[in-house]
Amino acid sequence: MAKLSFGMIGGGEGSFIGDIHRMGAQLDGLGQLAAGCFSRDYGKSLDYGRRAGLDEDRIYRTYEEMAEAEAGRPDPIDFVIVAAPNHIHYDCCRAFLEKGIHVVCDKPLTNELEQARDLKALAEEKDLLFGVTFVYSAMPAAWFMKEEIAAGRIGEIIRVKGEYLSDNLLAPNEDLDGGMLWRIDPAKAGKSTCCADIGVHCQQLISYVTGLSIRELSADMTVVGEGRQLDTDFTASLRFDSGAKGHMWCSNVAAGKYNDLNIAVYGTKGSVAWSLEEPDFVTMSGKNGQTVRCRVGKSGGSQAGAPFRLPAGQSEGWVLAFANIYRAFMTALISKKAGQPFARNYPGIDEGIDSVAFVEACVSSWQNGGRWTEICRKR
Ligand SMILES: NC(=O)c1ccc[n+]([C@@H]2O[C@H](COP(=O)([O-])OP(=O)(O)OC[C@H]3O[C@@H](n4cnc5c(N)ncnc54)[C@H](O)[C@@H]3O)[C@@H](O)[C@H]2O)c1
Repeated sequence: MAKLSFGMIGGGEGSFIGDIHRMGAQLDGLGQLAAGCFSRDYGKSLDYGRRAGLDEDRIYRTYEEMAEAEAGRPDPIDFVIVAAPNHIHYDCCRAFLEKGIHVVCDKPLTNELEQARDLKALAEEKDLLFGVTFVYSAMPAAWFMKEEIAAGRIGEIIRVKGEYLSDNLLAPNEDLDGGMLWRIDPAKAGKSTCCADIGVHCQQLISYVTGLSIRELSADMTVVGEGRQLDTDFTASLRFDSGAKGHMWCSNVAAGKYNDLNIAVYGTKGSVAWSLEEPDFVTMSGKNGQTVRCRVGKSGGSQAGAPFRLPAGQSEGWVLAFANIYRAFMTALISKKAGQPFARNYPGIDEGIDSVAFVEACVSSWQNGGRWTEICRKR
């Protein structure tokens, strides 16, 4: 079977997430990098593309040029990966969708809710697949927690706690690299730094694991650091459709924290808890004082649908979670191209829209003194 070919926007030399996308998309032998506009700087893009073994005529100056040229080729890329800063996402995704090319975009999907909805309408009109790389819900532990909760193991959900803590904005602006500087620039990051960058991971993971939707929230944001306008830390109280409640704390200024994403879900019969710092373990507790530390991974028996790749005890990390998303996306795309039915087992545009709506609600609530704010559910 021929591999699918893909192109990339952003993700060039020195970028934070580019290599992770490339490794993930190529890990299962289903996809091959064939084109790109890897940087705003054409020289850098050319350098990177050459080293990646691309034909020079498929290393482009702009994403507009790339969408146009690829669509005109007899062998265009099958899909594009958008791994550029947030403000590029909307126009770039639109340019490729317009040309009939499937898209995988990183989070946050767009800086404006209307833009996210517009992308969905266009993808549907053109009958194109659209993935969004919410990587943490593609981790084996997330799948495990979802299964346990859906099987009723912790009973009815009463409360959910989510945290994503990092200290990557504790340094003053003059000490930040370009990848952090655009994150504090409203023209590029959008309405939010912390909530749009890491808060959306926490929100999407909570929704995935619990199957619950946040109905309304009350948020409080803090702007830490001279010369900054956007949140670098926020808390939110959450009310879910089911009547369950929750709270979230995300921060870019939590000293000593690097990537401490953790969630805990408390139900009428027990609780489940997980931390990215120990990604292969989920703690399940019952009412009788019994606590079990479950090692998540392949251990024989029926685990139909599980994303596990490695024997239990071997760590599956970030790259494999990206690969899980790409494997599911490309499996769907291969079936679609063959005219066969397919399942959408990857985070997609609806999750992308929900997250943009979450950011808008958090910012609006904060600007209105923490007023309870409904999350707009129109997709
Ligand atoms: N899913 C995740 O876990 C995850 C993790 C990190 C970043 N991200 C997201 O990935 C995106 C990129 O983040 P990053 O940290 O890699 O940023 P970065 O600043 O490290 O890298 C961005 C890259 O995009 C290039 N670029 C900028 N404008 C461009 C344009 N117009 N055309 C082509 N290339 C352009 C830059 O030259 C650079 O190579 C962001 O949307 C971010 O939110 C997601």
